[in-house]
Amino acid sequence: MTKPDVMMLFPQRPVAMAQLEDAYTLHRWDLAEDKAAFLAEHGPKCRTIATNGHAPLDAAMIEAMPNLELVSCSSAGFESFDLAALAKRGIALTNTSQALCDDVADTAIMLMLAARRSLVAADAYTRSGDWATKGPFPLQRSLKGRKLGIVGLGTIGQAIARRGEAMGLQVSYWNRRKKDAPWRFVPDLVELARESDNLIVIVAGGEGTRGLISAEVMEALGPEGLLINVARGSVVDEPAMIAALSSGKLGHAALDVYASEPNPDPALTALPNTTLFPHHASGTVETRDAMAQLLVDNLKAHYAGKPLLSPVDLRAYLPGTVEA
Ligand code: DGY
Repeated sequence: MTKPDVMMLFPQRPVAMAQLEDAYTLHRWDLAEDKAAFLAEHGPKCRTIATNGHAPLDAAMIEAMPNLELVSCSSAGFESFDLAALAKRGIALTNTSQALCDDVADTAIMLMLAARRSLVAADAYTRSGDWATKGPFPLQRSLKGRKLGIVGLGTIGQAIARRGEAMGLQVSYWNRRKKDAPWRFVPDLVELARESDNLIVIVAGGEGTRGLISAEVMEALGPEGLLINVARGSVVDEPAMIAALSSGKLGHAALDVYASEPNPDPALTALPNTTLFPHHASGTVETRDAMAQLLVDNLKAHYAGKPLLSPVDLRAYLPGTVEA
C-alpha cells in the first residue's frame, strides 16, 4: 500500500520519527538545501505537515501546498505560522498544550519559589564558603498566604492555579473572557497586578498579546512584586521590564522566555534581581516524547478520518488571543 506523503518542516523525537518513517513517506524540507524548490516539487503531494512552532510556516509555503488539510505541530506555541492563511483555506491545526501542561506549570512554580527564596544566590553562598565565614543566609519571605495573579487561564494557567492553591496562595486571574473556574476573575489586568505579590504570565504569543505586560502593569506589580513569564518573550515589554527592574519599580523577574532567544538582552542578564531559565519549561524527556507522540497521533487520526486529538480553534486566535 502506498504511504501517505507528509511534509516535515521540523524533526521530531526519535520515538516519533520511527513511527512516522514507518507509516508515511516523509518529505524532509527541514534537510533540503533549496527549500522553495523542494516545496514546489513535493508540496502538492502532501495533505499534511509535521512541524513545530519554532519552524516558519508562511503564506507562500501554505500556497505551495494546494492539498494541505492538516498542520500537526509538536509544540504548544505556533506564532511563526500564518494563521490567517490557514484559516482562509480551512486547514486544521493541532498543538500540544495538553502534553506539556504539567511541566510548564511545575516550572512556573519552580521559578516563583526559586526567586522568592533566592535559590541561585543561596546555592552560590553554600558552595563558596560564605556560609561559614558570614553566617546564616539572610531570611527570605514566605509564600504562604500571598497573592498569586495568573494572566491567562487556559489549560496551563489552570494547572498553575491548582498548584498555587495547594501551596496556600490566594489565586486570582485575568483572562480575555471569564472562565467557569473556581478562582477569582479580575477583569482589569493592571488591577490584578496591583493586588498580586506574584504574577505568572501564561498566555499565547503572537501579535494579539504583544506587550500585554506593559510598563503600567509592571509598575502596578511594584517594588516588592515578582513577575514570572513562562509564555513568550513578546508578551512582556522587555525594554520596559529592564527599566523597571533597574529602577526598582519592579522587584524581581523570573523568566523562561525572552524577546531575543537564544541570546537574551545582556542588559537583562546582567541584572541581579532576575532568575533565568533557558526556555526549557517543557524540556524533559517525558514531555518532549509526549509532545512528539501527540503530533503522530493527530496525523494518525486525520488519515483514519477520526476526530483530531488536540485541535486549535483558529477563530480564537484571529486577530489575537490570550490563552496558552
Ligand atoms: C512550546 O511548546 O511552545 C514550548 O514553548 C517549547 O517550545
